[in-house]
Amino acid sequence: MKGIVLAGGSGTRLYPITRAISKQLIPIFDKPMIYYPLSVLMLADIREILVISTPQDLPAFRRLLGDGSDFGLKLSYAEQRTPAGIAEAFIIGREFIGEDDVCLILGDHLLYGNGLTKLLKEAVLTVENTRKAAIFAYPVATPEQYGVVELSADGKCLSLEEKPATPKSNYAVIGLYFYPNDVLQLAPQVSPSPRGELEITAVNEMYMQMDRLQAHVMGHGYAWLDTGTHDAISEASTFVEVIEKRQGFKIACLEAIAFRKGWIGSERLEQIAATMMNTQYGRHLYELAQQHKSEQQ
Ligand code: DAU
Repeated sequence: MKGIVLAGGSGTRLYPITRAISKQLIPIFDKPMIYYPLSVLMLADIREILVISTPQDLPAFRRLLGDGSDFGLKLSYAEQRTPAGIAEAFIIGREFIGEDDVCLILGDHLLYGNGLTKLLKEAVLTVENTRKAAIFAYPVATPEQYGVVELSADGKCLSLEEKPATPKSNYAVIGLYFYPNDVLQLAPQVSPSPRGELEITAVNEMYMQMDRLQAHVMGHGYAWLDTGTHDAISEASTFVEVIEKRQGFKIACLEAIAFRKGWIGSERLEQIAATMMNTQYGRHLYELAQQHKSEQQ
């Protein structure tokens, strides 16, 4: 399965910060926002990833992430000229996806929780074994701000609506979607919505109508954090800071994930750490490499 991180958009809700930099490069505590969705793809064992962003912002993503080898990944990049909608990712990413299945995550998504890896792997298996698409439903206080899914008692999707005035449930659809390869045929059939976007909800509705949409509920034990406003960014940063300091662990530390998965070795980890030993992030990588060495002896 391949992965796409959609990291474009105009970011006007975060002006003046996003006048000069991409929203998805803003720090959430000690790392850029895009590290968080990238970590989710890595936890799902997805290593070939396309980063889509605006023509002006793409060079900065390349500078930050390079070819992905520091993270044991193979990264490619593509432009989205205007924010024409989330479903456009499959039109832009057509060649990249080729004959594979694909997972799309929005570049501003921060997900955290015990058992996340298991949930992600279940979604991959849903696609691979049943040829169904997999989405995640998350209970929220303000469903009208999201795509909303109505579920039956046995988890079947009964309806999907994009930002409904009167939501049929309090389950928001998270911006993390797993699709079989035929999304490449379906996405181009979507017409622009009244707000002028190729809606991802329209793609999900097609799968629902074919009875090929599986919703996995991400319950209260998980954090899906908002990063849409200045307040939300500050709160998300505090959330990450508190957990990292308390547990001595790092959330979305891409090199550490790659190392634990055996995608990069301890020498490489140490080299990367050496480039940022004046930061807590760099020292964390260094300690991980040292710990590994002492375990080997
Ligand atoms: O957050 C989850 C919600 O994301 C889902 O519940 C909705 O079904 C889905 O439509 C989407 O809602 P929004 O319309 O509120 O998303 P927004 O326009 O804020 O875009 C989400 C991210 O994707 C944002 O960081 C910008 C990026 N984006 C968005 C569009 C429309 C792009 O890179 N390109 C685009 O064309």
